[in-house]
Amino acid sequence: MNTFDHQKYRPFPVLAKTDRRWPSQQITKAPIWCAVDLRDGNQALIEPMSVKQKQRMWALLVKLGFKEIEIGFPSASQEDFDFCRWLIEENQIPEDVTIQVLVQARDALIERTYEALRGAKKAIVHVYNSTSPVQRDKVFNLDKQGIIDIAQKGAAKVASEANKQPATKFRFQYSPESFSSTEIEFAIDVCNAVIGVWKPTPENPCIINLPATVECASPNVFADQVEAFCDQVNQRDSLIVSLHTHNDRGCAIAAAELGLMAGADRIEGTLMGNGERTGNMDNVTMAMNLYSQGIDPKLDLSNADEITRVVSECTQIATHPRHPWLGELVYTAFSGSHQDAIKKCLGQQQEGAPWDVAYLPIDPKDLGRDYQSVIRVNSQSGKGGVAYILEQDFGLQLPRWMQIEASRLVQSHAEKNKSEVSSQEIWNIIQTTFMGGQNVSKLKAYQVDKNDTLERVSATISDGEQVHDINGQGDGTLAAFCDALSIQTGMPLEITHYDQHALSEGSDASAVAYVQLKANGTRYCGIAKDHDVLSANVNAILVCIQQAKRAAQSAV
Ligand code: KIV
Ligand code: ZN
Repeated sequence: MNTFDHQKYRPFPVLAKTDRRWPSQQITKAPIWCAVDLRDGNQALIEPMSVKQKQRMWALLVKLGFKEIEIGFPSASQEDFDFCRWLIEENQIPEDVTIQVLVQARDALIERTYEALRGAKKAIVHVYNSTSPVQRDKVFNLDKQGIIDIAQKGAAKVASEANKQPATKFRFQYSPESFSSTEIEFAIDVCNAVIGVWKPTPENPCIINLPATVECASPNVFADQVEAFCDQVNQRDSLIVSLHTHNDRGCAIAAAELGLMAGADRIEGTLMGNGERTGNMDNVTMAMNLYSQGIDPKLDLSNADEITRVVSECTQIATHPRHPWLGELVYTAFSGSHQDAIKKCLGQQQEGAPWDVAYLPIDPKDLGRDYQSVIRVNSQSGKGGVAYILEQDFGLQLPRWMQIEASRLVQSHAEKNKSEVSSQEIWNIIQTTFMGGQNVSKLKAYQVDKNDTLERVSATISDGEQVHDINGQGDGTLAAFCDALSIQTGMPLEITHYDQHALSEGSDASAVAYVQLKANGTRYCGIAKDHDVLSANVNAILVCIQQAKRAAQSAV
């Protein structure tokens, strides 16, 4: 029998909705964020966070700008209880941050939860019970009224316990757990029952949180459910509608975004999407999605490396290198055509102008990344990548004809070694091939005389051991040097390309020259730096001559 049998499963029932409006909505502002790393994220870890790790995660969440943070499930875990006490007793909660705690709709647990919150200035008490058919029928063995009774009773207890601590400003939150797998009419009935108990007002709203506890359908189906809920629930103007999606189908972020378009106000999620099974909705990714559309996400994600470091230290889960926005490789191009396009676009990107760079949806610098890692070179890379690295790291602006020569060498190095080629390796290849090894001759002194048609040079070159005087003439200075060197070496020489540019301040030379020289009928390329352009050009010619001499020797 084949065990991989799709007939075991049923399609998810979709809503018969004819008044769908969310597809033409746009997200224009950040939602109210709630970070649930310390509760839902923590509950999903192989090893739950230690006190130290919780404190680190808390500090990071506060630093990033979260104003609502679910810190645990104090009635279910002594560690969560103690952490809640530490936050309150040690005065760790900034004025503008509200802690949130989760509790099941059971009297004893609600009482213990309020014990944990004693002395807090403000807090959100988040109560939940399961509502879906499978939970009703198989887990709780209760009918719909039984589920409503649990929710109502829990809501009443949450309110009555709050009354006992008048110095604390409480806000109430209710989640119909497994909302997205619950019949929409029933989900609304349960929430209406809770709302009837809490009697929220526009000035004192309660939070109704709609979880996709297990993601079972495509995100458009979730958006339909959210829109239907917002349309039909009682006292919509007195509710903050919150979404809490999980990522079983890989669409938690999409579902939450479409849910916002469908009318929700608030989002619960975790950093980098840690959470049960495939995880919670990733707050970082959604915030960056907004940021990349020109919307202020109201979170400061500018230190991406700190975020990934702290999250992986606390969760002991490494960040995937291709994780949206923050992965190590997400701003790196290996492909030659991508590198070429990035190099061209970065070259044209004006300071202050809207970002418009092919293959880079945002400026990696915004996340504290540099351009260093944008272009990395392997056997798939082309001339653009090599040229980019030489320019960024070593100040060389290779002319096109030289880029082709250089990338050919780097690519064959990558193919031979079957690995990425580092910036330093590229530089070593360029130096040894095009900048001459030891014993390359250098121009020591020169004199140029001009008349109307001809230039004459007299110069001294030295290879460190021997000194030669050379003389020649031509219709330009470089042609005159070529003539002089041709006489000295006995080789026919012709410059086929040359180019030069100034070097930035701080470099030990002020100019660099690139020369392609035909010697004995073969083309050689040389690069040289010097304090003046002419010396750089002549020294680049001398590198080419050294290559030609070596070629001649090895042919013997
Ligand atoms: O996923 C879920 O349904 C939850 C609730 C407790 C909100 O985490
Ligand atoms: Zn959850």
